[in-house]
Amino acid sequence: MQNAITVENVSYVYGEGTPFRVLALDNVSLNVEMGKLTGIIGHTGSGKSTLLQMLNGLVKPDSGRILVGDDDIYSNKKLRREAAFRVGLVFQYPEYQLFEDTVRRDIAFGPKNMGLSDEEIEIRVREASAFVGLGEEILEKSPFDISGGQKRRVAIAGILAMKPDILVLDEPASGLDPIGRREIFGGLEKYRQATGTTMIIVSHSMEDMARYADDLVVFENGRVIMQGTKQEVFAREDELREIGLELPQITRLVRRLNKMGINISNDIYTVDEALEAIISTYGGGEK
Ligand SMILES: Nc1ncnc2c1ncn2[C@@H]1O[C@H](COP(=O)(O)OP(=O)(O)O)[C@@H](O)[C@H]1O
Ligand SMILES: [Mg+2]
Repeated sequence: MQNAITVENVSYVYGEGTPFRVLALDNVSLNVEMGKLTGIIGHTGSGKSTLLQMLNGLVKPDSGRILVGDDDIYSNKKLRREAAFRVGLVFQYPEYQLFEDTVRRDIAFGPKNMGLSDEEIEIRVREASAFVGLGEEILEKSPFDISGGQKRRVAIAGILAMKPDILVLDEPASGLDPIGRREIFGGLEKYRQATGTTMIIVSHSMEDMARYADDLVVFENGRVIMQGTKQEVFAREDELREIGLELPQITRLVRRLNKMGINISNDIYTVDEALEAIISTYGGGEK
């Protein structure tokens, strides 16, 4: 499988030579396969956001390499600049960066910077808004007159409208209620199905990761301590618990049932999957 992103032995220090020196990334290596959704999990301060900002050219590693496709993006200025368009980065709380007088202009900002024609920009604004469930009537409003969840979706649409090869999102649903979370993740899922875009998502929520990710990377104190398919990583339940990361409740329940001799797959991550597995093994479910 081809890699969309390869991170090789990357280290990074904040505040070198000061009393506040922090080793934020400590010899991190990982890869992200083309077309997959890779989830990054780990506690606050473990280095996730620092790494994300390296992927699109914003922060240069102190040592090590970042490859986008086959290109070492910090090897020259041109590649570093291009990375900003190839890798779309949605920051945490991106709504704080809305600034235009209408939603339409905010979503169009990125595509405009790419030098696209007005027609193409208009098409992209419409497509991107539709993916995140923003109706036509919102587009003429001020970004300051819409709800928090809508603002978040406007900010995400602005990056989608740039059609990056790789979409990177830092805690895209943080601070939202369950309905808001589902709107964000549902929109991203739709976008992914329609475009096949490679995605990297940082999230605190093991439930969201279980539901949406293909592969997982676990950070702890600036290091990658696990990576693999979701199944491989979630098989290490005890190690995850030791660092305070619990598998989703439904996954734990199903695994306990298995231990009690009720045989259903161990790889169950949502209530719907559990229901389906139980019905297919034990029958029932008819009216
Ligand atoms: N701008 C900064 N200046 C100094 N230290 C920072 C800065 N940004 C992050 N750090 C520190 O680097 C470490 C990693 O932070 P971060 O990458 O934000 O982790 P995460 O996204 O996993 O919470 C933490 O110890 C954090 O306090
Ligand atoms: Mg962070």
